[in-house]
Amino acid sequence: MLFNPLIKSSFCLKEYELWNYLHLSTAEYKSLLKLRNHPEVIKWSFSGNITLQQHLNFLSDLKKSPNKAYWLVKNKEGIILGCVNLSRINWVKLEAYLGLFKNFYNPSKRIGQVLLKIILDISADLLGLKKVSLEVFEQNLKAINLYKRFGFKIEDFYYTNNRKVLIMSKNLK
Ligand SMILES: CC(C)(COP(=O)(O)OP(=O)(O)OC[C@H]1O[C@@H](n2cnc3c(N)ncnc32)[C@H](O)[C@@H]1OP(=O)(O)O)[C@@H](O)C(=O)NCCC(=O)NCCS
Repeated sequence: MLFNPLIKSSFCLKEYELWNYLHLSTAEYKSLLKLRNHPEVIKWSFSGNITLQQHLNFLSDLKKSPNKAYWLVKNKEGIILGCVNLSRINWVKLEAYLGLFKNFYNPSKRIGQVLLKIILDISADLLGLKKVSLEVFEQNLKAINLYKRFGFKIEDFYYTNNRKVLIMSKNLK
């Protein structure tokens, strides 16, 4: 099966710790779920509120998947900044979709920028991907501004439940 084992790993990247969801303790899963179910994250997510059982099912699927990777990001003080992920990884075309959400219980500024830089570094430098894309609700201006700042361009759009979703992409070197 074609894939890079790094997507199943936890590692350090610069001053950050990337904890693969596959390596989290039960207590850490529960903390993660609390961050994931924060109203500000749910508002912009495609799947709404997630139960512990759904989360555990998702993790068992993640174990088997060669084209998805999810990491919890901590800084060097061990504080959780948020989560980043890659999905629909195409190991032939070297393309993927990325996702991220910040820890809304952490009052620090500019966490989004840190998370996006991390997932772009993983994509380009560690996995050698050539292109990353993402889907974002048209009303999610905070995220869209962030993506534009990092050079993402709108490539397409579609509607789901009367909400417009933009597909944005960026070519990597
Ligand atoms: C999207 C998300 C990660 C942004 O986190 P954040 O910490 O607010 O992000 P940042 O502050 O780094 O960047 C966002 C804003 O700062 C701006 N910004 C980023 N880096 C900047 C910089 N160096 N200088 C000035 N402005 C900057 C962005 O353009 C954006 O501007 P705005 O305030 O005018 O909208 C966060 O809101 C989140 O987790 N949302 C819920 C989940 C979500 O929407 N995920 C994306 C789904 S596609």
